[in-house]
Amino acid sequence: MLIDSHSHLQFSQYEDDIDTVIERSFKNGIDYIINVGTNYEDSIKSVELADRYDNIFTSVGVHPHDSAKMSESEFNDIVELLNMKKVVAVGEIGLDYYKCYSPREVQKEIFKKFLNLAENKNIPVIIHNRAASEDIKKIIYKESNGRLIGVMHCFSGDEKFAKDMIKLGFYISFAGNITYRSFKNEEVIKSVPIERILIETDCPFLTPESKRGERNEPLNVWFVVEKIAQIKDLSFKVVERITSENACKLFGIE
Ligand code: NI
Repeated sequence: MLIDSHSHLQFSQYEDDIDTVIERSFKNGIDYIINVGTNYEDSIKSVELADRYDNIFTSVGVHPHDSAKMSESEFNDIVELLNMKKVVAVGEIGLDYYKCYSPREVQKEIFKKFLNLAENKNIPVIIHNRAASEDIKKIIYKESNGRLIGVMHCFSGDEKFAKDMIKLGFYISFAGNITYRSFKNEEVIKSVPIERILIETDCPFLTPESKRGERNEPLNVWFVVEKIAQIKDLSFKVVERITSENACKLFGIE
């Protein structure tokens, strides 16, 4: 069994051939896809997509890039979407101090709001973090009552941060960028127990090295399995099985 735990198939890059992309993935060993919302409109699109495919689940949320644009009524509508049966997470939410498309203070405020919502509703969070590890940690320590669970998507922090997040009950997710020749963080992957790892494509972005230049798609999550198996000196089968079990457990998929 294999799961792509983070894709964005609602994006315009798939407008013309979405069903072909999905069928190609399911025919070639991908069992489930967690499709991830990034703002109000595309969360709705993602919910619609999950309604069309039994094996696609979705999150709903607002990416830090879009947090300054979110209105109060959109937030309330997203709360409503959590009642839909294919919605398994709140996300992606978080902080991005690298691009900083929304002011930091707004990002933090919206992040807190979604964390509280997720914890109250007992639903996991999918967290985006770029150059903001310290504030992410600080906010979670402060806001969480200890019931919050989730995943650090496309992990880019150091070993210490990974360890701290695991202690808080989080999974650590790796994407296609771990296959890049320029990738320097193998020690972090070695340090995270396989029982806490999820894998993802983050498609259409982060196409694995051997396909670079092409649009990414869920099928390419195989390259991430391969790389993790190699770095951790585990068999392909073990990485496939355990990361899938992890994702099922986190998102409540049976
Ligand atoms: Ni993403």
